[in-house]
Amino acid sequence: MSRKALIAANWKMYKTPAEAKAFVEAFLPLVANHSRDEIALFPSVTSLATVVAAAAGSTIRVGLQNMHFADEGAYTGETSPLMLRAVGATHTLIGHSERRQYFAETDEVVNKKLHSALRHGILPVVCIGESLAEREAGETARVLKTQIHHGFAGITVEQAATIVIAYEPVWAIGTGKTATPEMAVDAHRIVRAEIAAILGAAVASHMRILYGGSVKPENASSLLNEEEIDGALVGGASLIPSSFAAIVHY
Ligand code: 13P
Repeated sequence: MSRKALIAANWKMYKTPAEAKAFVEAFLPLVANHSRDEIALFPSVTSLATVVAAAAGSTIRVGLQNMHFADEGAYTGETSPLMLRAVGATHTLIGHSERRQYFAETDEVVNKKLHSALRHGILPVVCIGESLAEREAGETARVLKTQIHHGFAGITVEQAATIVIAYEPVWAIGTGKTATPEMAVDAHRIVRAEIAAILGAAVASHMRILYGGSVKPENASSLLNEEEIDGALVGGASLIPSSFAAIVHY
């Protein structure tokens, strides 16, 4: 089963529009002619249009880090799928652990956002992962299954085709602690089996499951060369063009 890897940069709350533009200008020549993998950048909302413009004419895709589920409305501070599409973005992260942890995002909200993204033809990257306490309590499989079960409620086989999952163990995010390839592969197998249980084996075998959590140029190849790992969602190491390019060239 060959799934095209997606290497994605989650810039979190970093970079002004000028800094984002400078990144893209430095990064593009480093990945020119790179067609093996798909590349996506997730800047902050204020840099979204700038990054779309800077990446125009390249194969690089651009997305939001978070999207509201409503088309419009009285939701102060939020960004709608229509707004995302209007500036030329195509992707969105949904349910990043920082959204869950600091902004009380639940699996039910993740589910609404997932339905909304699919309705609008936006490629969703649904983030899931266990905390350190959950892993130490032997709860990893249960947590992942629950997040998928609720997050994917009501999703049909037809809708599921574009969905990407990012497995990001919370204890590995921004900590410098990376899951070993074996740990990541084990988790990905649990995720894929759960998708198969809900949506069937064909959907599961096509679904891309990314790993995220302290991915660096030094560990990217050992993770990404695993058959089960279909790409990476990179935080800190995606902020510098040469470092993110090195990950793309794993
Ligand atoms: P780090 O790569 O900084 O650990 O962040 C991972 C992450 O949260 C990507 O979404």
